[in-house]
Amino acid sequence: MCGIVGYVGSEDAAEFLIDGLRRLEYRGYDSAGVAIVCEDDIAVTRSVGRIQSLADRLGTPPPGTLGLGHTRWATHGPATEENAHPHIGGDGEVVLVHNGVIENYQILKDGLIEKGYHFKSATDSEVIAHLVAEGLSNTPAIEDQPHARYVTAVQWAIAQLRGTYGLAIVFRDKPGFMIAARFGSPLVIGVGRGEYFVASDASPIAGRTDRIVYLADHQLAVLTADGFSVLHRDSGKVRVNIQPLEADSGEVSMNGYDHYMLKEIYEQPDALRNAMRGRLNDQDATAVFGGLNLTPQQLRGVERIILTGCGTSWHSALVGEYMIEELARIPVCVEYASELRYRNPPIENNTLVFGITQSGETADTLAALNETKRKGHRTLAICNVVGSSIAQASDGGVYLHAGPEIGVASTKAFTSQCCVLAMLALYFGRMRHMSFETGGRIIEDLRRLPATIEQALTCDAEVRRVAEKYQSATNVLYLGRRYNFPTALEGALKLKEISYIHAEGYPAAEMKHGPIALVDADTPSIFIMPRGTTYDKVLSNMEEVKARGGPVIAIASSDDTEIRKIADDVIMIPEAPEFLQPIVSVIPLQLLSYHIAVLRGCDVDKPRNLAKSVTVE
Ligand code: M6R
Repeated sequence: MCGIVGYVGSEDAAEFLIDGLRRLEYRGYDSAGVAIVCEDDIAVTRSVGRIQSLADRLGTPPPGTLGLGHTRWATHGPATEENAHPHIGGDGEVVLVHNGVIENYQILKDGLIEKGYHFKSATDSEVIAHLVAEGLSNTPAIEDQPHARYVTAVQWAIAQLRGTYGLAIVFRDKPGFMIAARFGSPLVIGVGRGEYFVASDASPIAGRTDRIVYLADHQLAVLTADGFSVLHRDSGKVRVNIQPLEADSGEVSMNGYDHYMLKEIYEQPDALRNAMRGRLNDQDATAVFGGLNLTPQQLRGVERIILTGCGTSWHSALVGEYMIEELARIPVCVEYASELRYRNPPIENNTLVFGITQSGETADTLAALNETKRKGHRTLAICNVVGSSIAQASDGGVYLHAGPEIGVASTKAFTSQCCVLAMLALYFGRMRHMSFETGGRIIEDLRRLPATIEQALTCDAEVRRVAEKYQSATNVLYLGRRYNFPTALEGALKLKEISYIHAEGYPAAEMKHGPIALVDADTPSIFIMPRGTTYDKVLSNMEEVKARGGPVIAIASSDDTEIRKIADDVIMIPEAPEFLQPIVSVIPLQLLSYHIAVLRGCDVDKPRNLAKSVTVE
């Protein structure tokens, strides 16, 4: 969702700001803006639409070595220039950018209007700008403490906010000085030599410096070109933990692919290798995890597991449920994070809660984990982004190591999450009844997986042909059973989010209980049916659709020659044991939605209305 960049140093700020905003484009946005602090003024430029329109409007940017930038994904008020950030407080003495949502903005706004402040936007963010200006007007300067007045004004302002914020703030009368603050919306500081970068995630900073600080909730950073310090909102300085920044800027380039999504689909064999690296132990025929932060005794005592997440991560949770229940025989329950956070279900002792998330910033997943943690349960994260809010908030967890996922449609994160869940099933299984032989066989299955995915990717040309045939469909059904039911949901989500075609995923047998009414000559049904326990049953479901004149596409095992006699189109996938099939069968579904979206002229990496990190409820 919204993105923040900031620069303080000795170079022209504009170059970093525009480049940084481009690198944040993947998060999803509808308007953007920058503020550059010049001599005794702050030049603010805003524009609706893409970063290129902002760059065009900026033309030759004003010189200035301090500045802020923002991409906005509209929450309060439509996507207009007035509502775009940066916002100006008071008579121009404060300029800021904000990520997050301020829940009590209306009451604060009413109070500020009474005091004579004029609002130019419909946003909750402008309230913070005026509030800081009000704080400044009430705070005298302190001799020998040049920053104190500004810090006090910001502390006073943010203490009144209810909601979430990531903030970067500059002041007209204090050139070369910036304050950044965080609560519930991520903010990082890139530590350079004589220059500092602020951003809502590490991607704008990658390649600029290799040292990063992840601000924690309630922290405030005070930055000048000469140094920076971090304070707690209500108290004094805190110790700063400067960490190495691993990602280099090359990792976020498209490497010759037309879209990030396609690049990320093709990165899956390597992403899986990275997810498994160092985590398979032949000697004990089990998996090894360094970051669970629980003793073997505590893990052995787990009697129930809750897997929670949103969107694609919720789909991988469903795959995990099947894996863990089958291989480890531990009861699993899968919860939408948005429901779990308010549902207040009874949770027994010895329940372990995993939040599954690519970004580590999804507001609902974070809130669901915080709520279960508050009740005293252990919370772990399965997460891709190192140092993200969920990684920080949980008691421990497992990183995916999939590398940055830029395309809004999640691909390699899904398969990496399923792979981590398979390793967790192995780990918990080996703690209980699973034999050494079975553990060893599962390790072999997992090791073969990257090569199997490489083979699965060779279906690309065939998938493109199928995409051409069905690109004009307005409704598509995705049907599968057991492990391939979550794959059906994931295939349908991929299609709708990037090609805007209505699609539904169902357990194949559920079709007769309603969805079959949709079947007609214009509604293709995609059956995910590699060989396995329910193959014959799914075949019967396919016959039922055929009998009603619906076109059928089969995602089938490569040795299944008979299926061609029934299905209108067949996409072959390589053999895999049933518990790993979702990781293989999702490949043609990802490619199908990709090709259909391209053929329909859709913006594949930045689909309308969507954001990569959903940081609001
Ligand atoms: O970053 P997260 O995994 O927590 O994100 C959850 C969903 O917002 C995400 O999976 C979304 O559904 C994707 N656009 C799916 O492609």
